[in-house]
Amino acid sequence: MAKLTPPLPRPLRPKPKPPSEDGNGPTTPKEKVAEAGIGLVDWVDERTALSGGARWLMFRKIPKGTNWFYTLGSATLIAFLSQTVTGVFLAMYYDPSPTRAYDSVRHLTNDVFLGELVRGMHKWGSTVMVILVFLHMARTFFWGAYKYPRELNWVIGVVLLILTLFMSFTGYLLPFDQRSYWATIVGVAINGTGPLIGPYLNDFLRAGPEFGATTLARFYALHMLVLPGALIAMIGAHLYLVARQGTTAPPWMKADAKPELRQEAT
Ligand code: HEM
Repeated sequence: MAKLTPPLPRPLRPKPKPPSEDGNGPTTPKEKVAEAGIGLVDWVDERTALSGGARWLMFRKIPKGTNWFYTLGSATLIAFLSQTVTGVFLAMYYDPSPTRAYDSVRHLTNDVFLGELVRGMHKWGSTVMVILVFLHMARTFFWGAYKYPRELNWVIGVVLLILTLFMSFTGYLLPFDQRSYWATIVGVAINGTGPLIGPYLNDFLRAGPEFGATTLARFYALHMLVLPGALIAMIGAHLYLVARQGTTAPPWMKADAKPELRQEAT
């Protein structure tokens, strides 16, 4: 008769080997991650909880009647991003010295691989952005989106418009050819005719009593650092308020009456 042995108490029983060690389970880190059911995005999200913010920003309810005109703000944003990327490549070749600026732009246009294309994209992109920003402003105006509670976002929008125009104005001087030089002298003089701050703005832009070498450095710093930094901060605030407040329904849309109210009306 076989001798009966009492079963070992549970804590003393040998533990089963994890699948990764018994030769059948995943062995490489990639297989282990796949078996654990997490991808790169989950891995990052577990450590940062960024998906909550992304969901808050991207998955919003939008009003009935939303149409293509509502894409003009995003189109402006795309134009701005394109300007940023092409601008970075232009900055790799541009020399802001008054004696070398013109030649550096000529070299960039004629000799550098795809230089003419990138410069063209940046030059025409600035016009596109100005047109888009005006169209977007017109959309928000005609939809009455400047009214309560979006007044602050309208004011931020006005600052964005001024910054965008100053980006174009300061960028125009940088090739430092005859046209940009003389056109900017006229532009700075026009700024000087503004009420109250006009003369100060004039001096500030010229960076001295005369339009000259210091002016180019001033415009370059404004175009490359000050204005883009201010634009990024203001666009961030603008989009935060758009996500928080939602967009305005078209003025011709009427809210659906509740069924019980509809019955009363008939
Ligand atoms: C760099 C410039 C700008 C960018 C990137 C930008 C971007 C956006 C985006 C993406 C939206 C949400 C969707 C839409 O309505 O298109 C928006 C909404 C809005 N923007 Fe702009 N915007 C800019 C300039 C302006 C300007 C110049 C104004 C007015 C002076 C303005 C006023 C508004 C208002 C009031 C809203 C809310 C719209 C609503 O509630 O329906 N924005 N903007």
